[in-house]
Amino acid sequence: MKSMVIGGIILVIALMAGTYFVAGDAFVSGDYINSLTMLGAFAIIAITVFVVIKYINQIKNDTASGDLLDGSWDGIGEYSNQIPKGWGIAFIGVIIWGIWYMLIGYPTNSFSQIGQWNEETLEHNEKFASKWDNPSQETLNAMGESIFLVQCAPCHGVDAEGIDGKSKDLTIRILKSSVQYVIRNGSYNFKSLYPAGMPSMILNDANDIDEVSSYVAGGFKGKQPSSYMVCAGCHGIDGKGIAFVGPNLVEYDDALILAVLENGKKANIGTMLSFKGTLNPTQEKALAVYIRNLGDTQ
Ligand code: HEC
Ligand code: HEC
Repeated sequence: MKSMVIGGIILVIALMAGTYFVAGDAFVSGDYINSLTMLGAFAIIAITVFVVIKYINQIKNDTASGDLLDGSWDGIGEYSNQIPKGWGIAFIGVIIWGIWYMLIGYPTNSFSQIGQWNEETLEHNEKFASKWDNPSQETLNAMGESIFLVQCAPCHGVDAEGIDGKSKDLTIRILKSSVQYVIRNGSYNFKSLYPAGMPSMILNDANDIDEVSSYVAGGFKGKQPSSYMVCAGCHGIDGKGIAFVGPNLVEYDDALILAVLENGKKANIGTMLSFKGTLNPTQEKALAVYIRNLGDTQ
């Protein structure tokens, strides 16, 4: 016992000397905060050493006390000690705190970058909706142009006239070659808007196909060829489309453009991706107005 205390005192002095050797320089400045810190370091060393000595002694000298339980497992018995009160309170306290932490504390109420992003997006969308609540045609056209330059121009060209035949010239409603292609192959891009699609080979005669394609691509001008009657049932006698049956072939109407933006489009020259979820309804309408105005200037 005595030798242990002496050993402890020697250890304390050694640790204090070591601490002073390493950090002592910082404390000669006369700054009392630094001196207090040094004093604290010495106190922690002394307390730690003597608390450790106390417990080592206890391990060496303590004897067990209390009543033994009846059971014996290969000669090993068990005391029927009460759990220590402090431990029990801490245990229940931690469970309660854990439940609080999960339900009320972190993470449900805490800051999250994704949450902030979502809130700001919602806020911005609301601001957008209220600012452009009832836009004029000019506003829509300007909005459509700016969206077009960013989202559509990479494929359709800055002037919307297409790029090297890889995407559609939007300043004209349709090319003769496209009409011929659709008549031969049919089309089934916009299931939601025109559920039946357009069947292939409704015209077989090459002359009829040529004649009708010229007429449609020419904007329905001049004498209507009699073979157009095959088309009229779905696209209307004037070609302006029938809701849910066939799209407008004379000009781009909202329905067709919204359907293209929503579904994308596969055609003979390539595929246009869908813009679903990227553009809001006002922006889609703005694009429709812009594209229609392109046609008007032709
Ligand atoms: C990845 C290239 C690409 C992008 C980007 C793109 N398009 Fe297209 N677009 C195409 C292709 C390819 C077609 C099919 C051409 C056809 O119908 O013959 C097409 C067709 C169209 C058509 C004609 C559909 C029809 O039936 O005549 C419209 C209208 C259109 N796009 C509008 C847009 C708008 C508006 C944007 C921007 C929001 C856009 N496109 C972005 C490639 C693209
Ligand atoms: C059974 C109804 C039906 C008939 C008949 C029909 N169409 Fe269509 N047509 C459609 C539908 C529906 C679409 C849209 C298809 C889609 O979802 O891609 C379409 C699309 C088209 C398109 C492509 C429009 C675009 O911008 O992509 C052209 C061109 C066309 N039809 C021309 C004709 C011509 C010319 C005839 C007559 C020879 C004809 N159609 C007969 C239903 C019909």
